[in-house]
Amino acid sequence: MQINTKIIDGTKIANVIKDNLAQEIKNLAPKNVSLAVILIGDNSASKIYIKNKQKACDYVGIKSHIYVLPYNTNNQDILDLIEVLNNDSNINGILVQLPLPQHINQELVIQAIDIKKDVDGFSKESLGSLIIGNPFFTSCTPTGIIELLKHENIEICGKKCVIVGRSNIVGKPLALLLLNENATVVICHSKTKNLKSELMSADIIICAVGKANFITGDMIAPKSIVIDVGINKDENGKLCGDVNFNSCIGIASYITPVPGGVGPMTIAMLLKNCIKAANIERKF
Ligand code: GUN
Repeated sequence: MQINTKIIDGTKIANVIKDNLAQEIKNLAPKNVSLAVILIGDNSASKIYIKNKQKACDYVGIKSHIYVLPYNTNNQDILDLIEVLNNDSNINGILVQLPLPQHINQELVIQAIDIKKDVDGFSKESLGSLIIGNPFFTSCTPTGIIELLKHENIEICGKKCVIVGRSNIVGKPLALLLLNENATVVICHSKTKNLKSELMSADIIICAVGKANFITGDMIAPKSIVIDVGINKDENGKLCGDVNFNSCIGIASYITPVPGGVGPMTIAMLLKNCIKAANIERKF
């Protein structure tokens, strides 16, 4: 059975959201919304992600402040910077780009961010409010995936969603967001016994493992919806996702490409969270 696979254009959807956010900022009084981004070291992928975030901020009218600290920065210096930013009423959102160097205590750093400025939604408080079903700031990639599905009018309620990957920033919060949408959720990971049989039973598959071409067309059921979170390089150095895109065409009903699928949505959700943070600041 050959299926006409729809390729979900994440860039186009994110652009619509960004235009709406730009308009929202124009209507704010005062209009200033700002984001502080902290990068430690010179991870080349992180530098590209930050540049993209900066560009998107410029586009919608959010002022971004980028702090680049050397690789050998210690925990205390990062905590001191976060404290300054926490106390600066001109800064609405604070984001520390991950991954951090090995010698940095990631949990300590994330927890140091004022929860009212936690636009990444990585703090224990943000994750806890998601668990009890009353989310505030939610992690941008999972939130972007829910928005993508909704934008395509893909029903989530009652669907079996199989997530591959159990990270704190994608897999786990995504499971909770999908559960809040009344999906039946399975989280698979490196120790899962029979991944293919789990995938075959899925209506919606979301893969976030960081392994090039990990899921292939023969592992998915006809008409399933495939969301690819991975950003990898293949053996030829070409950007690719966790899903072998070409082999899923004709089998999946929907698929997200890499690049141009989930990535732009992550950034759009970050901008949305910054505006939310600015609106809280105005209430205090
Ligand atoms: N590294 C990879 N994805 C993310 C993200 O969404 N936020 C931050 N802060 N770091 C990341």
